[in-house]
Amino acid sequence: MSKKEFRVAVCGATGAVGQEMLATLAQRDFPASEVIPMASARSAGKTVQYKGQDLTVVEMTEDSFTGIDVALFSAGGGPSEKFAPAAAKAGCVVVDNSSAWRMDPECPLVVPEVNPQDLDWHKGIIANPNCSTIQMVVALQPLHLEAGIKRVVVSTYQAVSGSGQEAIDELEEQTRRLMNGKPIVAEVYPHQIAFNCLPQIDAFLDDGYTKEEMKMVNETVKIMGDSNIKVTATTVRVPVFYGHSESVNIETREKLTAEDVRTLLAAAPGVTVVDYPEKLAYPMAIDSAGEDDVFVGRIREDNTIENGLNMWIVADNIRKGAALNTVQIAETLIERDLLRVP
Ligand code: A2P
Repeated sequence: MSKKEFRVAVCGATGAVGQEMLATLAQRDFPASEVIPMASARSAGKTVQYKGQDLTVVEMTEDSFTGIDVALFSAGGGPSEKFAPAAAKAGCVVVDNSSAWRMDPECPLVVPEVNPQDLDWHKGIIANPNCSTIQMVVALQPLHLEAGIKRVVVSTYQAVSGSGQEAIDELEEQTRRLMNGKPIVAEVYPHQIAFNCLPQIDAFLDDGYTKEEMKMVNETVKIMGDSNIKVTATTVRVPVFYGHSESVNIETREKLTAEDVRTLLAAAPGVTVVDYPEKLAYPMAIDSAGEDDVFVGRIREDNTIENGLNMWIVADNIRKGAALNTVQIAETLIERDLLRVP
């Protein structure tokens, strides 16, 4: 049997996702005997809030993980690559939010609503998928089980919070300066993000796609466990603080009507259907902020192909796209009695 309470490290606790992880652990009353916030040496000694208390941030080193049961990482790819193996070696189960381990065949890539069974073969490091992928697969899985998805064409409208606290600050600062007729500087993004859309997220690859686009392609197949699903993506950064939106076109093997999709998604875990055009009601980023669910609306049949559908999928990228999914993975590990390296 698992222990009843666990020592939990939050790695990257001063960052945008780390802060949300602390809030999510507290809100869901995660069975933690102790929460240890970790960050770089820059933040050691600072305090962060957990359940109304000040916790002192400690520097993350390779020796930090002795006696820790589970570590929720959101400190970026470099620190994950460096510290996650040391943590796993110390017997701590890592749930990592960076892209460092996602496509490693030794690491499960998990969205609890879709593939909780993949946790059963973990070896100490579990990867949390990319935010845009998580919200899409939560909505796709029930349709795939019913009708078999052949192809997905997705365009994203992604909030700046996905790039961390510095990007949130950059959008705010640029907006304020432009409204006051002052010149702006772009540091986090290669171009102005305020009042603009940037069709580039992450670095370009040789074939013209970006890394973010290929994350959506490859991670979807790994999570849904079906290499026959073809995905093509265009990922765009928009001047929104919280909440990623996605226009998703799918082709299925069997016919699904728009009403079938509404019925399937209304019964799906973690999904709320908001699809009432007559009331001008559809999912919007501003309504998703702070919410747990993935919101789906604008569900229509695509009449240009035999079995096609269009829909609009929105979720809080920091919550379901990152912190909440990570905490849900830790909760599912406990449910399945897996919160120890097998
Ligand atoms: P720090 O505040 O000490 O820089 P965001 O994604 O919002 O930018 O946050 C990144 C998080 O990752 C912060 O908590 C940051 O801590 C942490 N971090 C960055 N680099 C390291 C590192 N080398 N070791 C530990 N934590 C790190």
